[in-house]
Amino acid sequence: MCGIIGIISNQDTVSRLLSGLKSLEYRGYDSAGIAVINDRHIHLRRTVGKIDALVETVGAHPLSGSIGIGHSRWATHGGSTIQNAHPHITDQVAIVHNGIIENHRNIRLSLEKKGTSFSSETDSEVIVHLVTGYLNQGLDPEQAAFKTFEQLEGAYAVAVIFRDFDDLMICSRKGSPLTLGLGKAEMFIGSDALSLSPFTHDLVYLEEGDIAVLKRDSYKIYDQNKVLVERPVTKSQISGEGVSKGKYPHFMLKEIYEQPDVIRRIIQKYVKGGVPCVGLDIDWAAVDQVTFVACGTSFYAAQIAQNWFEGVAKMSTRVEVASEFRYRQPPLSNRGVTIVISQSGETADTLAALRYAKSEGQTVIALVNVVESTIARESDYVVPISAGPEIGVASTKAFTAQLLILIFICFDILRSKKKDFPDFAHILKALKVLPLAFEKLLLDRKLLQQISQKLAGNKSIIFLGRGAMFGVALEGALKLKELSYLHAEGAPSGELKHGPIALVDEHTPIIYLMPDDVLVEKNKSNLEEVMARKGQVYLIGGASASIYREKVVHFFEMPDLDAFCAPLLYTLPMQLIAYETALIEGSDVDQPRNLAKSVTVE
Ligand code: AGP
Repeated sequence: MCGIIGIISNQDTVSRLLSGLKSLEYRGYDSAGIAVINDRHIHLRRTVGKIDALVETVGAHPLSGSIGIGHSRWATHGGSTIQNAHPHITDQVAIVHNGIIENHRNIRLSLEKKGTSFSSETDSEVIVHLVTGYLNQGLDPEQAAFKTFEQLEGAYAVAVIFRDFDDLMICSRKGSPLTLGLGKAEMFIGSDALSLSPFTHDLVYLEEGDIAVLKRDSYKIYDQNKVLVERPVTKSQISGEGVSKGKYPHFMLKEIYEQPDVIRRIIQKYVKGGVPCVGLDIDWAAVDQVTFVACGTSFYAAQIAQNWFEGVAKMSTRVEVASEFRYRQPPLSNRGVTIVISQSGETADTLAALRYAKSEGQTVIALVNVVESTIARESDYVVPISAGPEIGVASTKAFTAQLLILIFICFDILRSKKKDFPDFAHILKALKVLPLAFEKLLLDRKLLQQISQKLAGNKSIIFLGRGAMFGVALEGALKLKELSYLHAEGAPSGELKHGPIALVDEHTPIIYLMPDDVLVEKNKSNLEEVMARKGQVYLIGGASASIYREKVVHFFEMPDLDAFCAPLLYTLPMQLIAYETALIEGSDVDQPRNLAKSVTVE
């Protein structure tokens, strides 16, 4: 959350700061700003809203400078106002910050007592006043920054520039990501590798507590003990390509349509000689339990996979929301494996959960899309989900890719445990036809639009499913609420009569998922219960559900597919319904309100 970019160069930095911010916009889009130093003055432009608004302001009121910092904000402390936008400045110093300074109140109070006046409600502003205060006490910039970082508690990635030093930038990270980019007589910093990819591919990932002191043609890094250290220079593989919308009006739609190719690519990568193999060097037979930790959509992928890991691979499995797990700190056996799932690889809670699992002696596997991410770097094993860049805030193709890889890991476990699984060949066949099934289903988009037409404007929508389909129902409800702002909740169909059924009446739309699986008869009974109470049912199901065609508001028939692979395919109508409903509701599909693609604060 929040994106940071910084450049020291011999040339003007403004247009590159703005383009860097554009690629960091997925991290937050409440406000944005840049500060550059020119002629021993700090020049500042800030706007509320997206980067385009900042570009417009800069166009109307141009500025230039060969050193500058920029920020795209996801508001934590203080609303989306110009005053709260970064950079924060004094007459001598400008800073940008990503994270939360937890002791900001105490620092603020003590600074205010000494006469400092604040112009924002943010936690971040204390940083600029601390640095300025130390400079005024006669400390040099390096000492002032070091002394400031010492006082900060919480999570941060910070960059500081100084009015009187146009060849100096000091940054630090603790809990929030920050990467250095090494150019030719230029230095860059960015919250991710993608934002730096147009400028350089030589990257240095800062580690926890590192402080970097940058000049145009040199840099030094101190570790958390203030000892000078060398960090490896990594050649980034990120090309910056593939991040345009192409012919699509939204990234989300493009990413939904990319799914058949993503599935093909993953099958090609992980299925060798007809056998799926993720290739982890793990003796699964010796593993006593798998613990999944993740947030949001990635958590639902884990929840679906639990059905496979337990039901098929007979592996004891627990699924944990990272933000709960990290503080509950359950005991974990050192024979266990923790699988962290994260599209971005930067989610703060998931990262903290990973660190806890490691401290308990667990082997940690990361399923990430962004392989150059903190979670990937800190895990024992990394399995790239290979979905390609996902820009839309709502996760779509990453979810499908996560599910597919999780199926493959399930087969790895079966093989390692030397367990026979008679349906193996059947499932493999189904996986092979999956891309085609996705393509066929995408042709039915118009039919799903009809469902969205009816859902739009409703107060509350219930998604129901059983077994692995419960996870799909949860994902469907999350997609709908995050994009269209309609209240939606997912529930296991069997749990209906323990509470949610009280919500059912002739005004309640219910999206009911009913594949042709072993639970179909149970589902039929639950559906009857809903219909007896006049619930407005939108039935998405296989051939056996077609007996309800005339009785429900809308029946959407799904292609015949092996039940094991059905969760992947049933996710597609969930995504399209959410997309189409959001369009009708007029919300911002790619950047829905209050959300960010990468949640780097807890
Ligand atoms: C998905 O549509 C969400 N925007 C969100 O729930 C997301 O899945 C969650 O924040 C986890 O992100 P991660 O996969 O990058 O860790």
